[in-house]
Amino acid sequence: MSSILSRLVVGTLPLVPRALVKRVASRYVAGETLEDAARVMKSLAGEGAMATLDVLGESVTRPEQTEAARDEYIRALDAIEREKLNANVSVKPTAVGLAIDERLARENCAAICRAAGRHGNFVRLDMEDSPHTEGTIRLALDLKREFPNVGTVLQAYLRRSLKDIDRLAAVKMNVRVCKGIYVERRKIAWKDHDTIVRNFGVLVDKLLSSGCYVGIATHDEACIQMALTSIDRLRLTPDRYEFQMLLGVDPLLRKILTDGGHRLRVYVPYGRDWYAYSTRRLKENPSIAGHVLRATFGLGPATG
Ligand code: FDA
Repeated sequence: MSSILSRLVVGTLPLVPRALVKRVASRYVAGETLEDAARVMKSLAGEGAMATLDVLGESVTRPEQTEAARDEYIRALDAIEREKLNANVSVKPTAVGLAIDERLARENCAAICRAAGRHGNFVRLDMEDSPHTEGTIRLALDLKREFPNVGTVLQAYLRRSLKDIDRLAAVKMNVRVCKGIYVERRKIAWKDHDTIVRNFGVLVDKLLSSGCYVGIATHDEACIQMALTSIDRLRLTPDRYEFQMLLGVDPLLRKILTDGGHRLRVYVPYGRDWYAYSTRRLKENPSIAGHVLRATFGLGPATG
């Protein structure tokens, strides 16, 4: 879809009936409740996929909102244990207070990591927009000293990521590599698609070569091909990495990867904040509007 059409879709988004946005979002969001998310995770388990739970809600401004997010994550970890689901959690640092006070975010994350630790589970700090990159890396490194079960994310579009690896690799951090979803300035981010794809391959290779466990988060076959080349060259067994995809995107690629003997984890967002989440994602990245249009007309993902 042309970028003009994409922008038109995004511009008119506020006029789109909430029910229609909900119908489109229902492909990308498990539902409003933990029970909805558990149902989706069980269905994913049926096809051999693992999950990572994201409680929707980010950039909160009041400390009590961060406590509610923290408690919901602990409830989710308890449910994962109780229902014997193969799933961990992904936490947006601003949802637990990073934009309010780093110490508050640290305390909330520590409580979540402690709960995960009790169940032998794992917590990943998602990576948000660039004002929070350094704070998130610092938070992850600080938590890692106390909790071995924490990891974070690097974005291939950020020029700094190649160097950030060194600090993370020094403590054998579990790192997810993704392209990056936010709109960033050229001064700090690669803009050209092919360059971002190449950087994705370089980051994955550097992390795998450093002995880090890597979450390869992409639906782009070029990125997957480069990751598989590194895995093959380094003769890595499937317990050293996993592929990761978003709920609702390209189930055939999921199957290709699990059939190939690779671990595959699906990102499963849930919560009452689905409307804000869905519309924010669309505004941040107009190209996704193309997927909305396709979904609206029942066409399925562009990759088939
Ligand atoms: P690209 O956008 O080129 O997509 C490749 C193909 O996948 C497209 O041709 C399209 O068909 C399909 N596709 C992609 N997105 C789709 C969609 N929404 N609907 C339908 N089809 C779609 N970002 C970030 O900044 N911080 C983070 O912490 C994370 N975390 C994260 C976790 C996981 C598990 C994933 C998969 C992704 C993220 N991301 C993220 C988002 C990531 O940065 C990136 O924006 C998306 O994954 C899209 O990039 P691709 O590599 O898939 O390539």
